[in-house]
Amino acid sequence: MRFGPLALLPLLACPAADEAKETGTPSTRYHPDDFADPAVHSPEAKLQTQECVNCHGADLTGSTGTSCDTCHPVDWRTDCTFCHGGEETADGAPPSYIHDDGTNNFPVHTNHVAGGDIADAFACSDCHAHPTDVLSEGHLFIGDDTPGVAEVDFSAGLSKAGTWDGAGTCSNLYCHGNGQGDNGTASAGTFEATCDGCHPHQSSGSAGWRTMSGEHDRHLSEGEGFECGDCHKAVVDQWEPIADTSLHVNGTPDIQLVGAMTWSSSAETCTGECHGEEHEGRRWER
Ligand code: HEC
Ligand code: HEC
Ligand code: HEC
Ligand code: HEC
Ligand code: HEC
Ligand code: HEC
Repeated sequence: MRFGPLALLPLLACPAADEAKETGTPSTRYHPDDFADPAVHSPEAKLQTQECVNCHGADLTGSTGTSCDTCHPVDWRTDCTFCHGGEETADGAPPSYIHDDGTNNFPVHTNHVAGGDIADAFACSDCHAHPTDVLSEGHLFIGDDTPGVAEVDFSAGLSKAGTWDGAGTCSNLYCHGNGQGDNGTASAGTFEATCDGCHPHQSSGSAGWRTMSGEHDRHLSEGEGFECGDCHKAVVDQWEPIADTSLHVNGTPDIQLVGAMTWSSSAETCTGECHGEEHEGRRWER
């Protein structure tokens, strides 16, 4: 048989189409007539107001309904800017949001994924489970029990213990902390990325330096008068700007000592002579 019974229905109904409307004969279509229009079907897909995979198949190539691939470009499943992002970076990160209602809890998204003077770009996986496809588990079509919500998940990143309050504030962060643990908090709109925004700096004075580990205060204080760059040479020349952003906020303090001094990161000790003192294996208390 050439036509299935459903395909024949409109033909049979043809002569009395108006009549059919009047008597309320149900449409043979599942979706409303304008559903091919992306402005109509895209919000329903993105917010999962219905589960597309139930009819279009677990791989969206269509079991009951049409295959999504009939109309979409071939690479749409892995094209991260097909549904979000693409305005400021090419990696799928906002702006250009899944809700087209202008809500935006994290206006500093680009600052984190583009990199800058303070640090290199962070990976999506620092703050999200990173999907590779529209069918990735938990992304949107498969196994996502919070439709329309972009989950923030720090567990695979530098700030493993981090939490996001859904309204612009992150807490228990390594990245905004003082380098001694997951102790930083930052709110979009109020955080300032100054050199003393997360940890004390050259200008902080003893009150600040005393909150840093080990011998910071003693070495930075008058008398000894060291600069950050004397011990963190690859990161800063003197005390700013950051000379190599790939070594800053990368999860570990990078130590390169002045002169012939050497640092053992396993023992956390310094060896050699500096400022007239022999350091033979002296410990940097944490
Ligand atoms: C209950 C089954 C069912 C569900 C759920 C479903 N579809 Fe469909 N879909 C169909 C059928 C059947 C067709 C064939 C045309 C028709 O009957 O409307 C179709 C066709 C389409 C078309 C082609 C346009 C058109 O008018 O023919 C698009 C686009 C589409 N679906 C998108 C979606 C999206 C996006 C979702 C999830 C938000 C979804 N569908 C959920 C059954 C379903
Ligand atoms: C009848 C043709 C057709 C079918 C079938 C179809 N789409 Fe689309 N869809 C389009 C067109 C056209 C666009 C716009 C593409 C573009 O901008 O490059 C689009 C775009 C989208 C977008 C992104 C829109 C945006 O800008 O955010 C989503 C999401 C989407 N479709 C979901 C689906 C899903 C899910 C299916 C299968 C269940 C499906 N579509 C099937 C025609 C279709
Ligand atoms: C068909 C549309 C579509 C495409 C294509 C798409 N996404 Fe998404 N993405 C969404 C939606 C909708 C959300 C909101 C999440 C939800 O509903 O849980 C989302 C959320 C995300 C999130 C936040 C974490 C989450 O899952 O909630 C990340 C990260 C993400 N997408 C990355 C990507 C990457 C990387 C690609 C390319 C491999 C991609 N997306 C392609 C629609 C899409
Ligand atoms: C520093 C942490 C961080 C990094 C890195 C990050 N994101 Fe996000 N992202 C967030 C936060 C926070 C939100 C806001 C979640 C909310 O609205 O509840 C968000 C939201 C999103 C959204 C949803 C936007 C919307 O429509 O509401 C997408 C999509 C997304 N991110 C994709 C990405 C992609 C792709 C990358 C990597 C290129 C990435 N993110 C890297 C923290 C991050
Ligand atoms: C005398 C050498 C020395 C000087 C000067 C110095 N540091 Fe350090 N810094 C270290 C050592 C050693 C560590 C600890 C490394 C470890 O335990 O892995 C460290 C660790 C850190 C950490 C990680 C958190 C902590 O408290 O341990 C930060 C942040 C830091 N330094 C910033 C600075 C800044 C900013 C300056 C300049 C204001 C500076 N340091 C000056 C030697 C120095
Ligand atoms: C967003 C928070 C943040 C800001 C802003 C910040 N730092 Fe840091 N800084 C850290 C963290 C966290 C560490 C711990 C070590 C690491 O992960 O690199 C650190 C470590 C350092 C160190 C020790 C060497 C190392 O390994 O990185 C120096 C020196 C330093 N910062 C200088 C600066 C200077 C100079 C500025 C301003 C240009 C600055 N920091 C701004 C978070 C910050």
